[in-house]
Amino acid sequence: MDSIFKAIQASAIRIKDAIDTKDIGYSQKENSSGETQLELDIKCDMIIEEELSKIYSVHTVASEEKEHEVVLHEGGKYFIAYDPLDGSSLIDVNLSVGSIFGIYEGAFGAKNMVASCYVVFGPRVEMVFAHNKTKLHLLQNGDFEFVKEIRLNEKGKLNAPGGTQQNWEPYHKELVDSFFAEGYRLRYSGGMVPDLHQILLKGGGLFSYPATSDKPEGKLRKLFEVFPFAFIFEKAYGEAIDSKNRLLDLEHKNIHDTSPCFFGSKYEINRVKESYAAAKR
Ligand code: F6P
Repeated sequence: MDSIFKAIQASAIRIKDAIDTKDIGYSQKENSSGETQLELDIKCDMIIEEELSKIYSVHTVASEEKEHEVVLHEGGKYFIAYDPLDGSSLIDVNLSVGSIFGIYEGAFGAKNMVASCYVVFGPRVEMVFAHNKTKLHLLQNGDFEFVKEIRLNEKGKLNAPGGTQQNWEPYHKELVDSFFAEGYRLRYSGGMVPDLHQILLKGGGLFSYPATSDKPEGKLRKLFEVFPFAFIFEKAYGEAIDSKNRLLDLEHKNIHDTSPCFFGSKYEINRVKESYAAAKR
């Protein structure tokens, strides 16, 4: 696991350099989710695959930018799903973006997740790695230094509601509004990594990306985004559900499957469960 952690760090340093120096022109391609790929997305994907291919314990990788999985080492035991540059459409407006990694043992699947990690490229580069605990590291003078363990409070103050409001169910809108009525503040940049990072570091709150009329299965991808963050939140004493079930109990059929998702501290997640259960009764 330590060598994977080091390979992710090496990728992050190269990605930071690519973000700082590369042209951000659009490529002519679309990724598996139908989003236009930036040349930078493709570059970051290549960097990560190159770094992970040096690690013999990595059996297979799956990238959000590629249609199919790639086998690296037949004898390896880890299966790594990654989103090389999540929120890359925010690059041109110079907002924070991130890379996300889910580390599975034996095969892809929530139940096989053994660790997960994300890197935030903002004014500073930070990395959060969850194995037994959720730990924050900061890139300083070319090295990632351990900063602290991340632990959520029972209740937070931030509300990050994703998706197009027009397409929300009325009971979802009521739930979101009820948090604002309780004094929660809106924090939503449109980048999953910085939005969840903010909730983790400010002690708690709620990030939601619900089922909507146009996206009944949600938008965010299970293997690359939803499961890795669910693991990170649970190891930080928070919770992660699809409105009812624990996200890490969900199955997937295809590597690009999506799910509605709610990440937060215990208080907010209980409120989500209660509201959705009442609405569906
Ligand atoms: O996965 C892509 C992504 O950009 C996430 O980083 C982000 O949370 C989400 O989409 C934003 O979607 P929307 O603009 O629909 O709220």
